[in-house]
Amino acid sequence: MKPRMLQALDGETPDQMPLWLMRQAGRYLSEYRELRAKVPSFLEFCYTPELAVEVTLQPIRRFHFDAAIMFSDILVVPDAFGQKVGFATGEGPQLEPISDRDGLKRIAATIDLDHLAPVFETIRILKRELPADVPLLGFCGAPWTVATYMVAGRGTSDQAPARSMAYGDPELFASIIDRLVEGSTAYLIEQIKAGVDAVQIFESWASVLPGPEFERWSLEPTRRIIAGLRAFKPDVRIMGFPRTASAPAILSTASLGVCAVSLDTAVDMRWASSAVPSSVAVQGNLDPLALIAGGEALTRGVAEIKAATAGRPAIFNLGHGIQQHTPVAHVEKLVELVRS
Ligand code: CP3
Repeated sequence: MKPRMLQALDGETPDQMPLWLMRQAGRYLSEYRELRAKVPSFLEFCYTPELAVEVTLQPIRRFHFDAAIMFSDILVVPDAFGQKVGFATGEGPQLEPISDRDGLKRIAATIDLDHLAPVFETIRILKRELPADVPLLGFCGAPWTVATYMVAGRGTSDQAPARSMAYGDPELFASIIDRLVEGSTAYLIEQIKAGVDAVQIFESWASVLPGPEFERWSLEPTRRIIAGLRAFKPDVRIMGFPRTASAPAILSTASLGVCAVSLDTAVDMRWASSAVPSSVAVQGNLDPLALIAGGEALTRGVAEIKAATAGRPAIFNLGHGIQQHTPVAHVEKLVELVRS
């Protein structure tokens, strides 16, 4: 039988909602923390196939989710362009910011795929070790989201540095975006060659751009990546995640030729379920805090998503990554509720 996750991505309605969680490998699992403690550098951890494979498998062993997502990060792409990327504990990502034309000269014109060889090795090993009915997901960040980190050099709440560059020197900003389009397309094609069954494009900072700017810096670059992937493999399964996007931006993303659109916590699944064409699966969007709370909040949250998506292709997920203080027992309960 075709795995339920792939059924949903192919526009079919599985007999049961497939389920996986963003950041399902992570610090809420003691076995993750134990391994993670052995390697101080997060990127080194990501680039060690033996470790990346193991932490990808940990949540599958525990919860038998309907998909595994390769363990890595969206910021390996700037790293593979030669921009220094680091993760200081508790402070989030830190990059050497690209604030002007000289900054752009410090990074490579094309992505160094050899630098990402450990990611492709991780995928090949996972394809051997995962149960046959658990598809493997690859991913990258959308160019706009990755550019916000490259320009600011860190996470910010409003992405002012990238927005200011896009207004003040659109030509410079476009050349960063263009490099990311080409680099991300090449990176995802290598992931597909290595064996991933679907890819997700994370546009985490969709909210901060006015409509026409969103069209120019988010939709258009993402459309080019999708065209590049389809030129390589016409039936490749692609998911888009326009996090914090407005309703029109969600619908525009859904019409880019994706198989699924992921929805964040703030989206009313009843709206999305009817507004997104039924050929495109909806994915999401339980509040990670309802999962932490458990009890009635969890039961109700799951029931609402199941009711809203009944009879159409849909994938159960959280509206954002699972948080560190999530009790494992609540995740077990979640799986039971989604599958009951
Ligand atoms: O979902 C998964 O299980 C796959 C792995 C994955 C990670 N990050 C692992 C990770 C994925 C798909 C991501 C995507 C990602 N990374 C995004 C897009 C999705 C989103 O959350 O909006 C973004 C914006 C990033 C950048 C990033 N990486 C941030 C902001 C942080 C947190 C800062 C910090 O220091 O904790 C990371 C680090 C990160 N990426 C962790 C994990 C498990 C935590 C690192 C640790 O264990 O110390």
